[in-house]
Amino acid sequence: MNTVIVILGASGDLTSRKLIPALFTLFTKKRLPAETAIIGFARKRFTDEEFKTLVRTAAPDPYDDAEWHAFSQNLFYHVGDVENEGDYLALSEKLNTMYGAACNRLFYLAVGPGLYPAAIEHMGASNLTTESQGSGYRRVIIEKPFGRDLASCRDLNTQLKHFLSEQQIYHIDHYLGKETVQNVLIFRFANAIFEPLWNRNYIDHVQITVAESVGVEHRAGYYDTAGALRDMFQNHLLQLLTLIAMEPPALIEADSLRNEKAKVLRSLREIAPEHSARYTVRAQYDGYLNEPGVAPDSQTETYAALRLFIDNWRWQGVPFYLRSGKMLREKTSEIIIQFRRPPTQIFDTQTGSTELNTNRLSICIQPDEGIHLRFITKVPDEGMKTRAVAMAFQTPKASEAEFAPGAYERLLLDAINGDASLFTRSDEIELAWKFIDSIRVGWESDDAPPPSSYAPGSAGPETADDLLAHDGHWWILGCM
Ligand code: BG6
Repeated sequence: MNTVIVILGASGDLTSRKLIPALFTLFTKKRLPAETAIIGFARKRFTDEEFKTLVRTAAPDPYDDAEWHAFSQNLFYHVGDVENEGDYLALSEKLNTMYGAACNRLFYLAVGPGLYPAAIEHMGASNLTTESQGSGYRRVIIEKPFGRDLASCRDLNTQLKHFLSEQQIYHIDHYLGKETVQNVLIFRFANAIFEPLWNRNYIDHVQITVAESVGVEHRAGYYDTAGALRDMFQNHLLQLLTLIAMEPPALIEADSLRNEKAKVLRSLREIAPEHSARYTVRAQYDGYLNEPGVAPDSQTETYAALRLFIDNWRWQGVPFYLRSGKMLREKTSEIIIQFRRPPTQIFDTQTGSTELNTNRLSICIQPDEGIHLRFITKVPDEGMKTRAVAMAFQTPKASEAEFAPGAYERLLLDAINGDASLFTRSDEIELAWKFIDSIRVGWESDDAPPPSSYAPGSAGPETADDLLAHDGHWWILGCM
């Protein structure tokens, strides 16, 4: 049976920078099903050849000529307006003629989120996404943001469920496609030695940092209406949190995994609007208001930090600190598991020769993917003086070996193969919005203080340091 991948919004950046490169790599690795065609669908009046040239020239890395030639034999373009049902009917006819009614179809919504309702409705109404006996699968991959709060997310979910079952829906969060993020699952559940320590008895606190050195770039129109909390926390950071905090799933399979992740989100202690000053920080980088497309009086946060708690047996009382921002000193994403200190210090701490913060696990997501375990050892020939050392595992780079596929590559292949383990389920998305909404209400209340500021290229606002100092902690970057 043929497989057809239709990209809606194919003339945009995501298609040429991420989707086509990922599909091309899958093709060169011979991982795409044998008879796979890719069809770009967008309003611009391109011919097939013009579309191929567009995606080839805008690609981040050059394609090998011979491989590209072979790949592009099955790359096509269909002129269509996402808001016009007639264009979907024409697409449907084309698909039936070219590949037959019995053919697997994967749709990728690479359009702006404002167009999701129209796309979902028209795909459904023109039967493009209707599955029936022997029709092959019909699946839809949806990019974030899925809604801008709980209410709008629920509306979208209601609409989606009218045309599609949950099994047909693939909500993509590209962080789950990153190698080291998946490694969290292997690390936690394929090693027996960490699990006994993975709880409130041994873990002092957890930190999750996703820092970016870029600003809003050309996306101010979207970003200024979203902000860091919606753009990064509702999805990527809370997803990382679920993988760290979840209970062992019965199986590594979509529903077992997602049931456990949803339980974590359900156990998040709500940050009530009146408590937002004690548990959250929002900040804006200096100069943000001068970025093209940003409202002159914008209060949108380009940085946020949260101090949150998970109310369950495993994590009661353990603070989780999450932070993410743009225009920071460096691009780095990492998770720190800080273990408790020994109950008594029998080595000399007065002179500073004994490390106070002892064991720490650093899970480095980017730029250098790997896992470091820090522990204390003796300094040779210096009495009982101690020092911290690290055992480090480094994921081989893609250029050194074909080990680290891009996130989109992995996720597209999973969707083609019907494995939704690394996609978020509708209930997870709703639970995440519920948590985020409450914080937003606090930030948007009349007596809320304005966002603090921070200098571009810095480590973030001082207020974020105060958030941890409250508990006697400080932000750590452990992967350097
Ligand atoms: C996206 C956000 O989801 O993730 C962007 O919308 C952000 O604002 C990006 O820059 C970060 O992804 P990565 O993979 O570069 O860390």
